[in-house]
Amino acid sequence: MSLYLITGIGGFIGSSIARSLLERGQQVRGVDNFSTGKRENISEIVDRIDFREADILNLDAMHQACNGVDFVFHEAAIPSVPKSVKDPLGSNQANIDGTVNVLVAARDAKVKRVVYAASSSAYGDTPTLPKHEEMKPDPISPYAVAKLASEHYMTSFYRCYGLETVSLRYFNIFGPRQDPSSPYSGVLAKFITSMLRGEQPTIFGDGEQSRDFTYIDNAVAANLLACEAPKDQVAGQVFNIATGRRLSLNETLQLLRELTGYSGQPKYGAERKGDIKHSLADISRAEAALGYKPSVHFEEGLRRTVGWYREQS
Ligand code: UD1
Repeated sequence: MSLYLITGIGGFIGSSIARSLLERGQQVRGVDNFSTGKRENISEIVDRIDFREADILNLDAMHQACNGVDFVFHEAAIPSVPKSVKDPLGSNQANIDGTVNVLVAARDAKVKRVVYAASSSAYGDTPTLPKHEEMKPDPISPYAVAKLASEHYMTSFYRCYGLETVSLRYFNIFGPRQDPSSPYSGVLAKFITSMLRGEQPTIFGDGEQSRDFTYIDNAVAANLLACEAPKDQVAGQVFNIATGRRLSLNETLQLLRELTGYSGQPKYGAERKGDIKHSLADISRAEAALGYKPSVHFEEGLRRTVGWYREQS
């Protein structure tokens, strides 16, 4: 049995990794300051984990949290493109300074490996599709810059201190427990919850922008594989985690009309600042080095997600 630390355990992705580890009989410690995470995401597991309410900007708390830990999943972040455009300093602190704190603490505690929640936003709006890891990054938003900077810190800590790190570039992860309530929430959580309420969803732009939407179980599996993969294949490296297929928002909305029963039309608004047009991943590097294969395809993930939000409402 290993001890895993999850930063941002109250978040949608952090809490999903925690549940999966518990199902496998592993020991879980988690930190969250609930700035974006939610207590209800961990309410049903909180008595089976070592939970500490703490901010990743608190180095002492991170040192204590890393003590005796085998693996760290660093999921804590302020995960929003538009929020970072509004507040670049806040994004920089949480998404860069916070990462360096976690890395210093993990290095000092001699953690075996740190797996990091990196972002597809690092690629920016370069026209080449699919995006592969050898491409030169071209981040647009402060969020994308911060996520890319943290990736470089991951690699730097492997090179300078020998701390094994793996960065997983998530492509639009969605699924149960994703928070739909903030103006900065992921598009699918927002669309699904408003359509289930019979409310009109808003598309920013013409709806022809496309994403490689990735169901949460695929991301969780990638994280577990990133801990197990041989060091010489993964340490200090970056991997796309996605499905290798993209859909436009208009196509997605059509599928959601069938799944939710919402028969109205969307409202079209102004394009969002910092947005990119198309996003699609080449996942061959993750397949080869991690043995990653997306097991839940988009339509099935969407069906499960709609089912979950319907139960909640
Ligand atoms: C970006 C990153 C992703 C990161 C996430 C964090 C890319 C390709 N992806 O996702 O890696 O984890 O930020 O937040 O850069 N939209 C609407 N209506 C809405 C909400 C959103 O039309 O009500 C549109 C947005 O303008 C955008 C698309 O839906 O074009 C997806 O938006 P969102 O879910 O926020 O994710 P990204 O910005 O793509």
